[in-house]
Amino acid sequence: MKQLKFSELSNIIKKELTNIKFQLDLKNEGIIINVFDGIVRMYGLYDAMYGEIIEFVDNIFGLVFNIERTNVGIVILGDYKNLSEGMKGKCTGNLLKVPVGLELIGRVVDTLGIAIDGKGTIKKKKKDLIEKIAPGVICRKTVNQPLNTGIKAIDSMIPIGLGQRELIIGDRNVGKTSLCLDVILNQKNKDITCIYVAIGQKKSNVVKIVNVFEKYGAMNYTIVVVASASDPAIMQYLAPYTGCTMGEYFRDRGKNAVIVYDDLTKQAWAYRQISLLLKRPPGREAYPGDIFYIHSKLLERACRVNKKFVGNQTKGRRNTTGSLTALPIIETKGGDVSEFIPTNVISITDGQIFLETNLFNNGIRPAINVGLSVSRVGGSAQTKIIKKLGSGIRLSLAKYRELESFAQFSSELDKITKKQIIKGRNITELMKQKQLNKRSVAELAILLYAANKDYLNDVDIKKIAFFENELIKYLNIKYKKIRNLINKKGKEEYIEQLKQILEKFKENHR
Ligand SMILES: Nc1ncnc2c1ncn2[C@@H]1O[C@H](COP(=O)(O)OP(=O)(O)O)[C@@H](O)[C@H]1O
Ligand SMILES: [Mg+2]
Repeated sequence: MKQLKFSELSNIIKKELTNIKFQLDLKNEGIIINVFDGIVRMYGLYDAMYGEIIEFVDNIFGLVFNIERTNVGIVILGDYKNLSEGMKGKCTGNLLKVPVGLELIGRVVDTLGIAIDGKGTIKKKKKDLIEKIAPGVICRKTVNQPLNTGIKAIDSMIPIGLGQRELIIGDRNVGKTSLCLDVILNQKNKDITCIYVAIGQKKSNVVKIVNVFEKYGAMNYTIVVVASASDPAIMQYLAPYTGCTMGEYFRDRGKNAVIVYDDLTKQAWAYRQISLLLKRPPGREAYPGDIFYIHSKLLERACRVNKKFVGNQTKGRRNTTGSLTALPIIETKGGDVSEFIPTNVISITDGQIFLETNLFNNGIRPAINVGLSVSRVGGSAQTKIIKKLGSGIRLSLAKYRELESFAQFSSELDKITKKQIIKGRNITELMKQKQLNKRSVAELAILLYAANKDYLNDVDIKKIAFFENELIKYLNIKYKKIRNLINKKGKEEYIEQLKQILEKFKENHR
């Protein structure tokens, strides 16, 4: 055997060493570097996608939120206490999906679509992505069908159309939640599916709400999604998207759905918390740079889609338009709508209903500030008869607001001004509405007609509620046929008949 020289030997070793390839597969797997506050940093995972689900031991899952040069930031969905440094996690290749479909109606679910109402697991047929791109412009149709909320002030002055996004904004305890609950309760027997997303609320509160739904039969057409105050921030952040995906199921199948996000302020807080923990650069009020985007991408998904879109989604089985109407709620502090999150959401939505503490405390409930509330698209969707009668009401109230400050010196005012003040006062009184006390189109029409044509003028202000009840009773008992006709068709021609009904009513109630 030939003896190797020392220099030759070192050359061979060098050559062999350069040929060795370290086969450490860190493409789909990673190792935990650290764990803190529900956030995991991992080394490896070179193939991870943004938003991908990462699987850890013990059925713990996380979502990829940050992809950085040296590590990947993952937010854990749920409990993270069993995770520790050095553990492995692997890519699943899946994005987050939640169950959708008719089976969810009547159920209370969490952010991941798992039933939490103790009525057993949901036999889920279909799943869909939680984050989706909103339908493009060519898939959309103009909003021109009314969503009858049953709330007098809204239906007459700030109408909402199917597929619209109308913000409900105001301080705490001004009736924002109650207003939206009423809208949901009033959709009974209307073939509209409702979704109520409770974000960051107390569990006891949510239970109360579900009980109200059950008591008044609203669970037959409602899904409740809950991410309560005690749930991890990630669940509170994702809950609106879960609800939206569930609502889109109906929209895409040519049905109508209404979704209430109660409330998006808390969702923004949750997202801020996650972003700060991930060490993303904070901006105004410590919110991350994409805080506008999280709300716009959510609310853009609420829209009315055209027949072609529905046809494509259902493989030609349906030939109708579909809609998802969004009622996001924002809570302000001290009535300040110029704060960061309120201004963002105001600019995204198609109008806002502004609730005021002052009005609420003065007994004007719902405490809607009619001057500051608008609906940018609803007018074209309003029922014709209400539109015709409602414009006068709006005008009268606007005049009343101007004159209100003079009202104290009423003895020195001229006759016309006095009359306008009385009219405004009466209409304000008429617009008051108790909870769970809806008004149909016909009922609202006759009330508006009475207000417009000065039937209220000789009614004592304390008796307006009584007058209203008597009139509604009269209409419902004596004129069922015409009432049903107005409710169904809502045409302007019926105004003549309203006049006759009112004249008869006046004769009978002298
Ligand atoms: N139209 C109304 N008439 C009488 N009370 C109301 C009305 N709307 C709300 N309330 C009462 O006001 C309180 C606060 O309402 P809530 O909807 O919880 O306010 P928010 O969601 O704005 O904090 C509740 O106790 C509710 O019963
Ligand atoms: Mg509330």
